[in-house]
Amino acid sequence: MAKPKYTSHVGMVDILPDESPKWRALENIIHEEAAKFNFEEIRTPILEQTELIVRGIGQLTDIVSKEIFAFEKGDSHYVLRPELTAPVVRSYVEHHLEQRGGSQKLYYIGPMFRAEKPQKGRQRQFHQFGAEVIGSDDPVADVEIIALMIRVYQRIGIDNFELKLNSIGDPESREAYKEALRDYLRPNLDKMSEVSQIRFEKNPLRILDSKEEQDQEYIKNAPVIQDYLNEESDSHFDKIKEYLDQLGINYTLDPHLVRGMDYYTRTAFELISPDLGSQDALAGGGRYDLLVEEIGGQPTPAVGFAAGMERLMIACEELDIELAEEKSVDVYFVTLGDAARRFALTHLPKTREAGLSATMDYKSRSMKAQMKDADRENARYTIIIGDNELNEGKFTLRNMKESEEDSLTFNEILEKLGK
Ligand code: HAM
Repeated sequence: MAKPKYTSHVGMVDILPDESPKWRALENIIHEEAAKFNFEEIRTPILEQTELIVRGIGQLTDIVSKEIFAFEKGDSHYVLRPELTAPVVRSYVEHHLEQRGGSQKLYYIGPMFRAEKPQKGRQRQFHQFGAEVIGSDDPVADVEIIALMIRVYQRIGIDNFELKLNSIGDPESREAYKEALRDYLRPNLDKMSEVSQIRFEKNPLRILDSKEEQDQEYIKNAPVIQDYLNEESDSHFDKIKEYLDQLGINYTLDPHLVRGMDYYTRTAFELISPDLGSQDALAGGGRYDLLVEEIGGQPTPAVGFAAGMERLMIACEELDIELAEEKSVDVYFVTLGDAARRFALTHLPKTREAGLSATMDYKSRSMKAQMKDADRENARYTIIIGDNELNEGKFTLRNMKESEEDSLTFNEILEKLGK
């Protein structure tokens, strides 16, 4: 086939009709599980102010320095949202959601945009679901966030994942650690990668996340942050581990887990799947106790996670998990002649009101072609309508799976099939 003149942008993918039932099924699961945890949905615009994202995520992060889609129009600087934590916090501050009382337990589902090099599990427009608890620094909030994240995968039947956990400390602990890390790396800095050299002064923690071959031997034996946590951060982290143990949620401590945004404090976690290849993070998150204030609100602790929905779909494929049933329609009206078509058209609404999905042929095709089409549509029943049936007021109802037929009035059909 010739290449079409217009195609979607690289890394931006259409969700076609064969795929969309899976997405809807997944979305329904997320809504249901979030409701069970008593989280409320928040929907924010796709476009945000560039300044919010730069401030929120951090100027030197990969996302801000390389991956945002940003443009100007008039005096405004727009960015396609690369994630939703900063936008949700913006909305929380803008609309004074703290006045609703208690901690705000918010969740979301939607598209995000990052100008990354596309590969399996990495797109430029991708989808996340996620949740944020704003207004609590209790370790219970961290653990509930992790439990909600994991619950969605378990409900679907994905359970061979690894929860990686770390605490990157509060600012005080982190300053002490950064000094120690710099002192340790300094003698070999000139042998390390250029990116790591750039990160050394401003954000040495991100060096631990380096994928560069030449950095690995220096990172391997670097001091670990756990030894530099002050008492508060340390006991917060201990509580989280204790609660996770009580819930039977397994985790691996990973002192090199630092995450890609600057807003994190204390808790950091990632959910890793062996079924995903190189882009193996199903989900990630952590605590961000300073972000609300950074964006202009009152000091307010918060914690959250976000999960990649395409990666969840890939894991389902690898594990042969069907998220949605095969498409089908309850009733297909097979019509012969104009009067029959008119009858079908006017009886489709009644059928649908009875709770059934119903369709008819839109092309005046032969009976044989219509039966074939009903098969292709995976119809549970066909109602066969011709002049004789119209005169008698009785129609052939065919159960397509059992190949059984009944002759019934239209009302009898609805009574038999109605939901
Ligand atoms: P993140 O780790 O950048 O965190 O993204 C979360 C998840 O989104 C990743 O684990 C991955 O599954 C998916 N993801 C990220 N980039 C792509 C991409 N280019 N293509 C496909 N999937 C992708 C955040 O976004 C934070 N906002 C999480 C958070 C919420 N922290 C606190 N609250």
